[in-house]
Amino acid sequence: MKGVILAGGLGKRLYPLTRVSNKHLLPVYNKPMVYYPIQTLVDAGLAEILIVTGGNHAGEFLRLLGSGKEFGLKHINYTYQDGEGGIADALKLAEHFADNDKIVVILGDNIIEKDIKKPIEEFRKQPKGAKIILKKVEDPERFGVAELKGNRIISIEEKPKKPKSNYAVTGIYMYDSKVFEIIKTLKPSRRGELEITDVNNAYLKKRELTYSMLDGWWTDSGTFDSLLRANMLVAKQAVIASECEAKPKQERSNLK
Ligand code: DAU
Repeated sequence: MKGVILAGGLGKRLYPLTRVSNKHLLPVYNKPMVYYPIQTLVDAGLAEILIVTGGNHAGEFLRLLGSGKEFGLKHINYTYQDGEGGIADALKLAEHFADNDKIVVILGDNIIEKDIKKPIEEFRKQPKGAKIILKKVEDPERFGVAELKGNRIISIEEKPKKPKSNYAVTGIYMYDSKVFEIIKTLKPSRRGELEITDVNNAYLKKRELTYSMLDGWWTDSGTFDSLLRANMLVAKQAVIASECEAKPKQERSNLK
């Protein structure tokens, strides 16, 4: 299984922060944003990683990350998306890299507290299809939203005005090699993008879409509010970790 990080697009919702800089190079507490999804894939045991970048300062990714040595990787693959044709448009650039293998895709602005080892292991055993990861949120209208019946997803809507549930589709997706055929059939949405929600609905239609619930907190960081939230969540986690290291064992439980 290979890992793909989607860090293309123009990040217009963060203008003027992203008019010159690239969104995924902005700081989230003490690291550039893109470090977090890379670490998530590395922690899940994926050693072959492609970064799809785009927009401004794409060359700086190479300067920042190089061969990926800092993450214990032998090398990182890079490619470039022109414009901002959507998440599925960025993903189609990974076809050659995937080379018929299964892939785990993570959006470059998604940050999670814990790891995704368990859903990835489940997907390894899934003979075909796709798997998405859901998280209960207070503001589902900002995301793709899954409607559930029993333990099945029955629909996914992209940023619905009236969400049918509180289950957001996080930016972590697992696909078999058929994903690239599906992307070729997509038409741009009203916002002019090839939508990842349309990809997931295509798998849903074939009854080949499974899901897991994410453990721990999750946030995107593509708006001013969510970028601030990401900074605060990561900072809090870092403070707790350093206090835990400093305190004797018996005092640690008081911090939780
Ligand atoms: O964060 C999860 C949400 O991400 C999902 O719930 C939605 O279903 C999904 O559509 C997406 O929603 P956003 O509208 O928030 O995505 P955004 O346009 O902010 O893009 C998120 C990341 O995807 C971005 O940091 C880089 C990558 N991307 C995006 C676009 C539009 C690309 O690589 N290329 C692109 O053209």
